[in-house]
Amino acid sequence: MTALTSWLLSSTANAGEEGTFWMPPQASTFAADVDNAFYFIYWLDVIFFLALMGGMIYLAIRYRYKSDEDRTIDIKGNHTIELVWSVFPSFLLVAMFALGFNAYMKQSVPPADAMEVRVTAQKWSWSFDYPSLGITGEKVLVVPQGQPVRLTMTSKDVIHSFFVPDFRIKKDVVPGRYSVIWFQVDEIFGARPNEGRGPNDVGEMVSGLGEGEHQVFCTEYCGTDHSRMYSRVQVMPQEQFDTWAAAKVSFDPTALTAVEHGEYLFKKKACAGCHSIDGSKMVGPSFQGLYGRSENLSDGSTVIVDDSYISESILVPGQKIVAGYANQMPTFQGQLDTEQITAIIEYIKSLK
Ligand code: CUA
Repeated sequence: MTALTSWLLSSTANAGEEGTFWMPPQASTFAADVDNAFYFIYWLDVIFFLALMGGMIYLAIRYRYKSDEDRTIDIKGNHTIELVWSVFPSFLLVAMFALGFNAYMKQSVPPADAMEVRVTAQKWSWSFDYPSLGITGEKVLVVPQGQPVRLTMTSKDVIHSFFVPDFRIKKDVVPGRYSVIWFQVDEIFGARPNEGRGPNDVGEMVSGLGEGEHQVFCTEYCGTDHSRMYSRVQVMPQEQFDTWAAAKVSFDPTALTAVEHGEYLFKKKACAGCHSIDGSKMVGPSFQGLYGRSENLSDGSTVIVDDSYISESILVPGQKIVAGYANQMPTFQGQLDTEQITAIIEYIKSLK
């Protein structure tokens, strides 16, 4: 109880890396503004709650029923009191508006020199492209420290919502529209091994947040795996970011063997979000032992899983659905060329 009390009392806006009882750490430059607005309203609520409930209890005791002769005096009204309880709270409301509006405006207008990152949401993964650097399809949003970053976000299927609690940013990501949000992180926070979840650099789901990492959630219900639609932001010093970007640009996946290239695409295109490679059933069928197997389809027919069927399932996923699974997969038409599809087929073949 004392721990809880001290935690509650430590709920000041200057929380920085620690966070407070109500709020996660303040990682972005405008997190403090958001928290100031929140805690202004929060403490007003606490004060008014105590004053009103305390007053009510006091008056209930002080003027409780004693006898029939003890009658209430007839009060017609009091202009002074009525003016005070109208005018005074209106100043408080204007102060709330000013704090909130100030923080909202800062978030709404990205600086002109912000680095552009394109965010694509789909069931159930996030992917990040850096048009100015020629980097595409990243699973982790890697950003340089101390630089404004502008996110231009859209969705391939349904409405998702991009949420980074540590940054106090949250915005809907809507198909057919581009929503914009920005942030800047000046400080690199320590690792939080017991918090967070998301794909690593090669698309495998891992737990814990490393140094400079922040959790990304999808915060708009978008179907079966909505609650597992994680990602993370990785903040690093500018020089380290430049090294990272240079390595990404010079990496040539076609120099790998077909099986390795297929495995790389399997992770990079987030296939792993719905298809296991160990036989366990997820949103889609497992890839283990898939090649050459005879599958029962939802229309009652059967199909042998060969190159043509895998290729068709990647490009026109709704065509032949395996019995027991829903038609959930997005098409990869226009995103994977023949060479890449061949690499994925070779990878699936290797999963015996
Ligand atoms: Cu995407 Cu919920």
